[in-house]
Amino acid sequence: MHTKKIQSSRCSPIVSIVTLCGIVLFTLWNTQAAVLAQVPKGEHGAAEMEYQIKQLNQLQPSVDVSKTPPGFDSVIWQAFIPQDNALTPERVLLGRKLYFDKRLSADGTVSCATCHDVTRGFTDQLAVSEGIKEQFGKRNAPTTLNVALLQTVFLDGRSPTLEHQAKMPIINPIEMGMSDGQAAVNAIKDDAEYQAAFQKAYRRQVNYDDIGRAIAAFERTLIFMDSPFRRFLNGDKNAISSEAHQGWELFNEKGRCVTCHPMNPSNPLGTDNRFHNVGVSARHQDFDTLTRQGLKALEEDASEQKLEELALSTDMSELGRFLVTKNRSDIGAFRTPLLLNIGITPPYMHDGTVETLWDVMDHYNKGGEANLFLDGGMEPLALTEDEINNIVAFLFSLTDDRFAQENQRQLKRQKAQSEKKRPLKDDDMAFRKKIAFEK
Ligand code: HEC
Ligand code: HEC
Repeated sequence: MHTKKIQSSRCSPIVSIVTLCGIVLFTLWNTQAAVLAQVPKGEHGAAEMEYQIKQLNQLQPSVDVSKTPPGFDSVIWQAFIPQDNALTPERVLLGRKLYFDKRLSADGTVSCATCHDVTRGFTDQLAVSEGIKEQFGKRNAPTTLNVALLQTVFLDGRSPTLEHQAKMPIINPIEMGMSDGQAAVNAIKDDAEYQAAFQKAYRRQVNYDDIGRAIAAFERTLIFMDSPFRRFLNGDKNAISSEAHQGWELFNEKGRCVTCHPMNPSNPLGTDNRFHNVGVSARHQDFDTLTRQGLKALEEDASEQKLEELALSTDMSELGRFLVTKNRSDIGAFRTPLLLNIGITPPYMHDGTVETLWDVMDHYNKGGEANLFLDGGMEPLALTEDEINNIVAFLFSLTDDRFAQENQRQLKRQKAQSEKKRPLKDDDMAFRKKIAFEK
């Protein structure tokens, strides 16, 4: 009797703490669900444009284009800006208006922000994107955050600049579907607001090249890299959790991630700006046949439009960088992506087939899908479940603080999703012997 009494009096505070925690968690979860439910949805599952603009105003209360973004050397920053498109407030404002304008699509339902949605990490969080007339492409929409810092644009690097890139989706038949640049100009040229804005920004009438320039200028204001990990790199050792800290060490050593995703104070982006076949969808591909088909198609028509079509609308999309260079070593190769804000831009990889960051780790742990063109840097890693959790914790520490709420939501969602598959069966895991340089 006596013992029982002591036990119950010991238990009760614990029970009430657990109950209290439960209530708090339930309320938080509900608030989160309520916030999400409030996002008014427009066409193709994207948040309504007006709502996105409001959200952007909150993320970016003011933009001073004369200032170098924090953490950048001003000379390096200037090197990212082309001579003929110096950043001015007028250009940024015009580009921002164009970015959200659905009139730039053939049926008036799609803007850049449909697939690069402010409320979804500037992506669509879909495996592959949906354009006009419910058409789906072959590739996953990358984020437009920090694209100003890329050396080549598009996942296969087929575009040299943001100015050039911004004009492509407008005339892509399955994205915004305009018949040509002039059709896009015609859609907005009678709008007095635009006429004035183009004059102010470029001292010219509404024209297609300046549409591309203005959107690029706007994109250069989307620098979002103020993350816990960035503060850690700059010397604040307590900015990230001890799991994330261990994950960072694994990222550099046993995980070998750093060979392609360099991250250090002078290159905090996590990309080598090169192209690798990391065996994402290799299991389903017959690269031999695809290569032959790709070469034939490009022989018949080597235009930019043809390349765009092959990349977004055919199975040859899987050839990746090869379609641009025709180099054997580029078969199935894609650009190493920036890892900034990675937590909020699922699903992953060029085809969006990898749902969570835990799945990304499982992919690397087995050394990717074997194929003839697999990058030499890929091999099985034998990471344990704890080590995988730590690297994932590190990856979630790369999100800008302004997206902290969405980052937490994704962390919970992805964890729950991945737990359905875990623990993995033995034959899903891959092991390798230790090699000389490892501790
Ligand atoms: C229908 C969906 C869709 C629309 C609309 C769309 N995009 Fe994209 N965007 C994508 C997809 C998919 C990719 C990847 C294509 C590829 O790399 O081959 C992409 C790639 C990009 C990239 C390259 C990012 C990188 O990491 O290399 C930028 C920048 C970009 N889009 C900006 C824009 C702008 C600006 C607009 C409006 C003019 C726009 N997008 C309209 C789906 C879309
Ligand atoms: C051989 C070079 C290489 C190595 C090693 C490598 N990566 Fe990657 N990583 C890439 C490339 C290339 C892609 C894009 C592949 C694709 O889309 O098909 C990628 C994609 C990713 C993505 C998805 C990005 C997105 O936006 O969809 C994540 C996350 C990632 N890598 C993390 C890691 C981690 C963690 C490691 C170490 C365990 C690692 N990578 C090792 C080259 C590499």
